[in-house]
Amino acid sequence: MSATIIHISDLHFHSYPQKFVELNAKRILGTINLLIRRAREFPLKRAELLVKRINEMEWDHLVISGDITQLSLEREFALAREILDPLLIKKDRVTIIPGNHDRYLNTHVGEDLFNKYFGEFFGINEIHTSKINDDWFLLGWDSAHQNDLRTSSGTVKSSTIRATENMIQSHSDKTKFIVANHFPLTFPEDWKFDRFHELYNLVPVRNWILQNPQIRLYLHGHIHSNWVHSLSRDFAPDLTLVNSAASCSKLFKGQNSSFHQIILEDQNVKVNPILLN
Ligand SMILES: [Fe+2]
Repeated sequence: MSATIIHISDLHFHSYPQKFVELNAKRILGTINLLIRRAREFPLKRAELLVKRINEMEWDHLVISGDITQLSLEREFALAREILDPLLIKKDRVTIIPGNHDRYLNTHVGEDLFNKYFGEFFGINEIHTSKINDDWFLLGWDSAHQNDLRTSSGTVKSSTIRATENMIQSHSDKTKFIVANHFPLTFPEDWKFDRFHELYNLVPVRNWILQNPQIRLYLHGHIHSNWVHSLSRDFAPDLTLVNSAASCSKLFKGQNSSFHQIILEDQNVKVNPILLN
C-alpha cells in the first residue's frame, strides 16, 4: 500500500512589531533583517500560491517542519493560520512542528504562541505521532527553543529520544518510521558549518538515528537551500534526508525545488522535487 506525503517548511509569515514591548533586542535585529531581506523573499502571494498548488494535489499527509513565522509575533501566527487553513481541514492528515523562529524571544513572555495556533497539529505529548498507513508511522520532534542574540540553534531532548525509542519498540519490526524535525543532520559538501545555527547535539542525534534501521526518512528545513541526501548503513536500508525549506520564497537562480512530494511504497521512498512557479 503506498502513501503520499507533501513536505513544506520555513514559510516565514511576517509582520512588523507595532508596540515598543515587542521590540526587544533580538526582534530589532530580526526586524532589520526582515525589512531588508525576508519581506522581499517571502511575498504573501507566494504563500497563497503554495496553498492553492498543494490543495490541487493528491496527498495523504502534509508535514510542515517549522519556522512558520519570522519573529514569533501573534499577528504572524494568526496570518499563517488564516492562509494555511484550506490545508488544515482534516487535522489527522497534518503534522506541524516548531522551528527556532517560532520560539524567537530570548526571554519567555506569556503563552507559547506556536502551541496556541498550531499545537493541535503536534499534540500534547513529548513527541507527535501519526499513523500514515499499516507500513509507515510519522514521528514529530520539537527541538526548537529560545536562544541568545547570536544563536539560532536547537536541541533534541533526551526525553524526546526516549519517547521515540518507546514508540519504535511498541511496533512490529516491520514498521518503518519517518522523523520530522526542524534542524538538518547533513549538509552539502561545500557547506560552511555554523555551530551557532544548528542542533547542539547534532552528531549524537544523527548517530542514534542511524543505529535505528526502522527510521528510513528524516524531514527537515532550517537552511533555505533544498536537498535530498542519503546516509548508508552497514546492514540496513539507507536513511533518506529531505530538506524542503523556504517553500514559498521567491525562486532564486538554479533552484530546482520549492517543496517535495514523497511517495512511500512498501520498502521504497521516492522523493519528487516540486518547483512553485
Ligand atoms: Fe530555522
